[in-house]
This record gives sequence, structure tokens and C-alpha cells, in this order.
Amino acid sequence: MNQKRAASSFYARLFSRMYDPVMRSFEEKILLQRRQSLLENLHGDILEVGAGTGVNFQLYSDEARVIACEPSLPMLAKAYDKLAAYPPVASIKLVHAGIGDEELHGHIPPGGLDAVVFTLVLCTIPNPELAIHQVKQWLKPEGRLIVLEHIASDKPVARRLQHAIEPLWTPLAEGCCLTRDTDQMLRQSGFEPEQEEYFSAGMRFYQAVLRKQYKVLTP
Ligand SMILES: C[S@@+](CC[C@H](N)C(=O)[O-])C[C@H]1O[C@@H](n2cnc3c(N)ncnc32)[C@H](O)[C@@H]1O
Repeated sequence: MNQKRAASSFYARLFSRMYDPVMRSFEEKILLQRRQSLLENLHGDILEVGAGTGVNFQLYSDEARVIACEPSLPMLAKAYDKLAAYPPVASIKLVHAGIGDEELHGHIPPGGLDAVVFTLVLCTIPNPELAIHQVKQWLKPEGRLIVLEHIASDKPVARRLQHAIEPLWTPLAEGCCLTRDTDQMLRQSGFEPEQEEYFSAGMRFYQAVLRKQYKVLTP
């Protein structure tokens, strides 16, 4: 399925305009420092999946070559504006495609990726298992998966509430789901954490640096 979404959707344009102003205070208080600690030391070829308005661009070092893919045209336009207004030290190539789109393959370096970045995006991608499986193929053996995501609550009452409000929330938040167990999904997909942290900030969050898990073959 083509993941690209059209600029003609009024709501997609509104969402892209509201995203940074709505998130600003939360970013400054909670997320920005975490994004920085995850991204500032990355180097080499990096895929950022669902770059949105480009919140991460300033946080990469000059040793990062970032392919930033984004299927929503209004979000992509915001990301282009940000690149022009605040040129980052990293090399950033914006690609109008989602993780499920065929044309993204042509942008992946033949030698593979040093890192893949998911920030607030595995909650939204329609098929996150498939996305994780795909990027696993693209990562070099020593590559790292960088994750900063909100996940389902571990408290039964809050979890039930999330399930109850999700049918209203998801269309308003452009596909964002509240009830994904992204941490478990990553482990089940063959990744193991090198560093991980759970924290609470209105919702439960998972922050991690993961690497591919290799099975030890016994003779
Ligand atoms: C909540 S925003 C997060 C943006 C950014 N990553 C951040 O940290 O602020 C989720 C983004 O995921 C994008 N998205 C949705 N489906 C996608 C897919 N299949 N592949 C890549 N990105 C996707 C949306 O268009 C949106 O820009």
C-alpha cells in the first residue's frame, strides 16, 4: 500500500501547522533532552522514519548523513521550511515516502545503514511490525535502532481507558495509536536493548538504543 498522503487533506495541513506549537512545551520540558542524548553521537548513514516537521534535524552532528523520509506532504513542507530557516550541521536528505513505499528502497545505501531513528512514529505507522522488519534488513550488522516512543500503559485501568478513547483519539491525531506495546514488538522482532528506559510523562514512554540480536549457534 502506498503510504504517501496528499496535501489536499485539510486536516493533514491543519495537523502539520498545529504540531510544533502544540508540542512545544512538552518538547522543552521532557522530550528535547532525550532526543538530544539519543541522536547527538550518531554518525554515518542514518534513516529517520517519519521525520514529521523535522524536530530532530538540529540534533544530529556533522558526522551524520540522514535520509529523512516522510509520507505526509504538509509535514514534509514544514520540514523543508525548517531546513531552510535553521540549516543543520548534518547532511539531511528529505524523501517523500513512507516506510512501506517502494521508492524508499532506492535511497538506502547499498552497504546498509548505521542507524535507524524512530521518534514518536511507531505509534502511527499502520503496520509497525512490518516497518521494524524492513529496517532490520537495512541495518548493518553493527547498526543501531534508536527509539523514543509512547507506549501502552502497564496499569490495567489506564490501559482500559486508552483502549476506550483510542477510536476517538486516532483519527484526531492522524493515526496515532495509544495501545501499542512497541517495546515488546521490538524484542519479538529480534532486537535487544543496549540501553533502555521507561518513563512516565502523561503517558508511558520507552526510550532505547537497540541492536540486532544474533542467535549463538551451538555445535
Ligand atoms: C507524531 S508524528 C512524529 C514526527 C517526528 N518523528 C517527531 O519525532 O516529532 C508521526 C509521523 O509519522 C509519519 N508516518 C505515518 N506513517 C508513516 C510511514 N508509513 N512511514 C513513515 N512515516 C510515517 C506521519 O506522517 C507523521 O509525520
